Amino acid sequence: MIRYADLGFRTVERSDIDLIRKEHNDESVLLMLKDVFPVSETNQEEWFRNITSNKSSTVYCIFKDVPEQVIGVWKLQGLDLTNRNTEVGIEIFSSFRGKGFSLNCFRMIFKYLFDNLNIHTVYSKIAEFNGASLKTAQRAGFRITGRIPESLFRDGKYSDDIILAITLDNYINDIKPHLE
Ligand SMILES: CC(C)(COP(=O)(O)OP(=O)(O)OC[C@H]1O[C@@H](n2cnc3c(N)ncnc32)[C@H](O)[C@@H]1OP(=O)(O)O)[C@@H](O)C(=O)NCCC(=O)NCCS
Repeated sequence: MIRYADLGFRTVERSDIDLIRKEHNDESVLLMLKDVFPVSETNQEEWFRNITSNKSSTVYCIFKDVPEQVIGVWKLQGLDLTNRNTEVGIEIFSSFRGKGFSLNCFRMIFKYLFDNLNIHTVYSKIAEFNGASLKTAQRAGFRITGRIPESLFRDGKYSDDIILAITLDNYINDIKPHLE
C-alpha cells in the first residue's frame, strides 16, 4: 500500500465491494458519471474481476489512518505506458465529503503517478455540472485544457464534459514544492 500524510491507498478486496457499490449507486455519484446505470450485485462481481485482473484500468481504495477505514476510491483509467499518460478520477464516500480530504488524495495520487510510475501527463474528465469536482480538481493543480461539447445528457439537457490535465512540468513546478 502507498501512504501520504494521514491517507493511503490499497487494492480493492472482495470485502470492500458492497460498500463501493452502495456509494456508487447513490445519485450524488451516479448522476455525475457518464454511465448512469445502477450497478447490481452481479455487475459488481464482474467489475471486481475486471479491476483485479487489469493493471491499466483499475480502482484503489483510499483510506484514512488505517487500511480498514476506507473514505473513497480512485480510478486509474487507460494507463498508457508508451505515451506515459493516464486518466484518473476520485470519489470520496458521502460521509467523508466536505472535510477537505480531496486535496491530499490528489497529492497522493500525483506523487505516485509522477514520481513512481514515471507518468508524463495525467488527465481527467469532469461534467460541467459537477461543481465540487471541478473546484477540487483545479485546487489540486489540474488545469482545464478543453471540453467535449454537449456530450452528457442530464436533467433533460445536454452538457459539456470538461477536460483537465496536469503535465510533469506542472507537477514539478506547482505541486511538488507543496508536498509533505
Ligand atoms: C468531488 C469530491 C471528490 C470532492 O471531495 P471532498 O473531499 O468532498 O472535497 P473537499 O472537502 O476537499 O472540498 C469540497 C469543496 O467543494 C465545494 N462544493 C461543494 N459542492 C459544490 C458545488 N455544487 N459547486 C461548487 N463547489 C462545491 C465545497 O464548498 C468545498 O469548497 P471549499 O473547501 O472552498 O469550501 C466529492 O464530493 C465526491 O466524491 N463527489 C461525488 C463523486 C464525484 O463527483 N466524483 C467525480 C467524478 S468525475
